[in-house]
Amino acid sequence: MSQTINVLFLAAEADPFIKVGGLGDVAGSLPRALRAISTDDLKLDVRLVLPYHPAVKADGIKPLGMFSIPRGQTEIQVEAFETVLDGMPVYLINGDPIRANGSVYSLDSKLDAEKYTFFSLAANELPKHINWLPDVIHANDWHTAASIYVSLTKRWEEGARHVAGMITLHNLPFMGPDISAILESYGVKLAQTDLPDWARVMPLPLGLWASDAIVAVSPTYGNEILEQEYGCGLDEFLKIRRETLSGILNGIDVASFNPLEDSALGVNFDSDSLEKRPVNKGLLQERLGLPRDPDIPLLAMVSRMDIQKGVDLALTALKSMKNLNFQAIILGTGDPKLEEAAMNIHKAFPEKIKVETRYDAGLARQIYAGSDMLLMPSRYEPCGLSQMIAMRYGCVPVVRAAGGLNDTVRNGETGFVFEKPHHMSLMASVKSAIIVYGDKEKWKKMQLAGMAQDFSWQNSAKQYLALYQSLIKK
Ligand code: GLC
Repeated sequence: MSQTINVLFLAAEADPFIKVGGLGDVAGSLPRALRAISTDDLKLDVRLVLPYHPAVKADGIKPLGMFSIPRGQTEIQVEAFETVLDGMPVYLINGDPIRANGSVYSLDSKLDAEKYTFFSLAANELPKHINWLPDVIHANDWHTAASIYVSLTKRWEEGARHVAGMITLHNLPFMGPDISAILESYGVKLAQTDLPDWARVMPLPLGLWASDAIVAVSPTYGNEILEQEYGCGLDEFLKIRRETLSGILNGIDVASFNPLEDSALGVNFDSDSLEKRPVNKGLLQERLGLPRDPDIPLLAMVSRMDIQKGVDLALTALKSMKNLNFQAIILGTGDPKLEEAAMNIHKAFPEKIKVETRYDAGLARQIYAGSDMLLMPSRYEPCGLSQMIAMRYGCVPVVRAAGGLNDTVRNGETGFVFEKPHHMSLMASVKSAIIVYGDKEKWKKMQLAGMAQDFSWQNSAKQYLALYQSLIKK
């Protein structure tokens, strides 16, 4: 007998419609990967729902209809749109709270609170209007977490049908603003929870509290958040929910990130033609205005400029290594202070260290294909995608043993791993990498070991499927 599992997949961003960070990569790939592992016996009907941010770009978006959700004495209009991505229905939700907020994430937390609470409520109502009912609502991060909470309270208060709820955690510290007053204005009561007091007004903790399953984006991160150091005040609560918490490693889009076909590269290559790779290094050095030298180790960072990513540690380490023979490129935007600190290092060593403070997907690909080492000294890293892309492109990662970095890079085999979030530890690791780099045979072996890793979405999709099945059985 064939079975179908309907999954309503909610996210604030998803590639190719709109992408700000790693969440966009995951929400763009995972739903399609899940549909792709459907069989004749088991069909996964995963449908993606996104806010219709003003910046969303896509062809073929059609209006689907309007409905309203009550708020106090008035009603708020929900405009639903529809499009298709590789055969997957995608719904876009619009309305005043979404229009009022120009960017995907606002610096004004009030705007974000209004926008994402509205989105979460509207997404919950959507299935009724499209004649398709989910078995599972799968939310991601704080932005959509309130939908899991609302779904549970509706079941309790209005006897709505049972829908399993789950949240994937991409970044625990971001729990969202206080939305208690907004929820109340929509008629949603704050339940008695076993959450700490400060947390019971925020969308992520409320969603986690109501979830049947919680997934961290790597097994190590799933364990780390049970500790005080990484638990952000929810570690005790998460320990109580340990049975429902698991870690599933993200994948990367291996079709898009394929050095053999990537059109952003000067020369394509794979593990059978690794000898072509240095051409990309020369082109990159030229593009950056660095001396063209195949033998000088070229270090790279492709990262949001965020304290999470340890950009400051990397800057201090590079400065302390100034007498060594290396080149470095740092690409990324974010915290203006970190951008400025990076620019200062570039000014101090202009012929050695280059800094590009912008988002540039093409340059990022050229960096993966042309540089020798990728530095990721993250203070915490739920999963991390860059280290996986780097390995696929023959660039050897130097990472801190945190979260997904710990689960994807093997010290001395596919990369270099250090423990302490300190520039001295990073520096020691980079120095060992530079020594191995001097031994061409050893280095090549490491590059090939990284390139041979399977980081495709298939593995993760199978684990999510098993989880959906277990939730439905309950
Ligand atoms: C967040 C995390 C990052 C993870 C990504 C996708 O951006 O910081 O570690 O890879 O989400 O899950």
